[in-house]
Amino acid sequence: MNNSLQIRTFEEYQEKYKRSIEHPELFWGEIAETFKWQRKWDKVLEWNFSEPKVEWFIGGKLNITENALDRHLATRGNKTALIWEPNDPKDDTVRLTYRELYEKVCQFSNALKKQGVVKGDRVCIYLPMVPELMIAVLACARIGAVHSVIFAGFSAVSIADRVNDAEAKVIITSDGLNRGAKQVPLKRIVDEALELCTSIEHVIVYNCLNWPTEMKEGRDLWWNDIIADESTECQAEMMDAEDMLFILYTSGSTGKPKGVVHTCGGYMVYTAYSFQNVFQYEENDIYWCTADIGWVTGHSYIVYGPLITGATTVMFEGIPTYPDAGRFWQIIDKYGVNQFLTAPTAIRSLMAFGEEHVMSYDLHSLKVLGSVGEPINEEAWNWYYVHVGKERCAIVDTFWQTETGGVMLSGLGNLSPMKPTFAGYPLPGIHPCLLDQEGKEIEESDTEGYLCFKAPWPSILRTTYGDHERCRLTYFAYYDGYYFTGDGARRDADGMYRLIGRVDDVINVSGHRFGTAEIENAINTNSKVIESAVVGYPHPIKGQSIYAYIILDDATSDSQLARAEIIETVASEIGKIAIPEKIQFVSGLPKTRSGKIMRRILRKIAEGDVSNLGDTSTLLDPLVVEEIVKNAL
Ligand code: PRX
Repeated sequence: MNNSLQIRTFEEYQEKYKRSIEHPELFWGEIAETFKWQRKWDKVLEWNFSEPKVEWFIGGKLNITENALDRHLATRGNKTALIWEPNDPKDDTVRLTYRELYEKVCQFSNALKKQGVVKGDRVCIYLPMVPELMIAVLACARIGAVHSVIFAGFSAVSIADRVNDAEAKVIITSDGLNRGAKQVPLKRIVDEALELCTSIEHVIVYNCLNWPTEMKEGRDLWWNDIIADESTECQAEMMDAEDMLFILYTSGSTGKPKGVVHTCGGYMVYTAYSFQNVFQYEENDIYWCTADIGWVTGHSYIVYGPLITGATTVMFEGIPTYPDAGRFWQIIDKYGVNQFLTAPTAIRSLMAFGEEHVMSYDLHSLKVLGSVGEPINEEAWNWYYVHVGKERCAIVDTFWQTETGGVMLSGLGNLSPMKPTFAGYPLPGIHPCLLDQEGKEIEESDTEGYLCFKAPWPSILRTTYGDHERCRLTYFAYYDGYYFTGDGARRDADGMYRLIGRVDDVINVSGHRFGTAEIENAINTNSKVIESAVVGYPHPIKGQSIYAYIILDDATSDSQLARAEIIETVASEIGKIAIPEKIQFVSGLPKTRSGKIMRRILRKIAEGDVSNLGDTSTLLDPLVVEEIVKNAL
């Protein structure tokens, strides 16, 4: 491990922070020196937020897998890189040392090359949480192919959207997956998706379940067949620091999900630096993040950050409640996990099962507990702190986004002061601020505002794939000269930040992002639907849930049937994770005279707060509000 990266005291953090803001190029240049480059950069940083154009380590050449694998072989070749815990606790654990992981990655890299994948090609990966997912991601990075991981809960239509947007050449999947007591036929879903795609030349199928699987001659290949004769050495492709590393699709307020683009050099430096400092990882620690590699958390803090650091990273195939609600705690006990990162949703759902499950296991190995993906409420924070951490572990509430690549606001292990529900201070190199409605910076403390960042950090998104203007409009055009997160935040008298939630039309369900427009578009594809409006409302476990107001056509009289059909439509357009929890059929929607839907009113009704709906007299049809309130769910 690269000990020179590690901050050891809060005072040291303060000093480093100051230096990072005053001299960002010197600061990041020194950190970048500690990585393996094939050619050193000519200049650390060039940027403007107006195009936007951000470049880090300009002219530098590297391969991120040489940093995640090769450079550890001499000193950590026999150290466990990956511990894989299967869905069924009765099945065998897989442990891969750094050498074994290196060899498997090289072997699969050679297999990809044999299938014609070259630097710059896009490869989609739709796999369960099995070691091959990590291997596939790293193999792409090794040969310079751009990976686009698609969470294995998305539907065929969502896969097709992503494959088509990226014009991917290859997709990697498996016959099926295990998730708790359920199995899902992934290859069949991919086959359905590919009926809508033309760019895919090969489907590589990993055999997870031994299911009979239809293979299309000439197109489909078994993972095990194509690696069989390949060497376990593969020269890493030389990448420019600003070459694309991956695309990850994420939802925003408008339109279809967009492909957030991260590049090689800056992402490498920032994920490793933030991993080591936020989790205060020490050489022999066992680190576990429960996210799925289909989301950014898995990319940055299961795969890249930990492996670049030389850590032992745990990967779990299953779910927190299978076979029972003690599964997380059993795994922590089994491997002696030292740092644990999960989502508030998981904590809240396990809280509901009571403390007995936590009490049954030995959790003394834990040092740092992380939270990610959504605001953590005080009750969940306290439960985590008291019952899991036994009041002696640090809680790090890590705020960040797919677009930021790495953690932006968080405590650093047990170095920083902790305050329940507060993400806390910015990491070194991160320059947050709060803006008011007019876009003016709020200097005072104890205030709320729109959370923005004033300067780039190494892992900021570079563009949205194939549509740079969309990137500019979404993140850099709201407030001139700032990156806008879409979140509201409070800063207290100590300068600590607390996230309040999204201020745009993004709903965060169990830590997963959906745009209201995206769900409405899906609902509207159902031929019975005339119009719909979707809002988020607070949910005790999921954080937020989805409430859909829908106008059906006159011919539809059976609303039960319509409801079932609409649910099916959303599942097939996006995935089951986006199904609205509540569906209310309405005869009209509250609209302004210019035809704009008044979401504020719909949000209040969904929240059950109808005492003050504001002035509805200017609406096109004020009576419609009364009807909606009367029939609200
Ligand atoms: O609203 C914020 C919320 O999740 C959004 C980012 O979602 P995504 O790109 O899917 O990345 C999730 C994992 C990093 C943010 O805009 N969010 C994320 N972390 C926190 C959070 N809200 C409050 N507290 C957090 N720690």
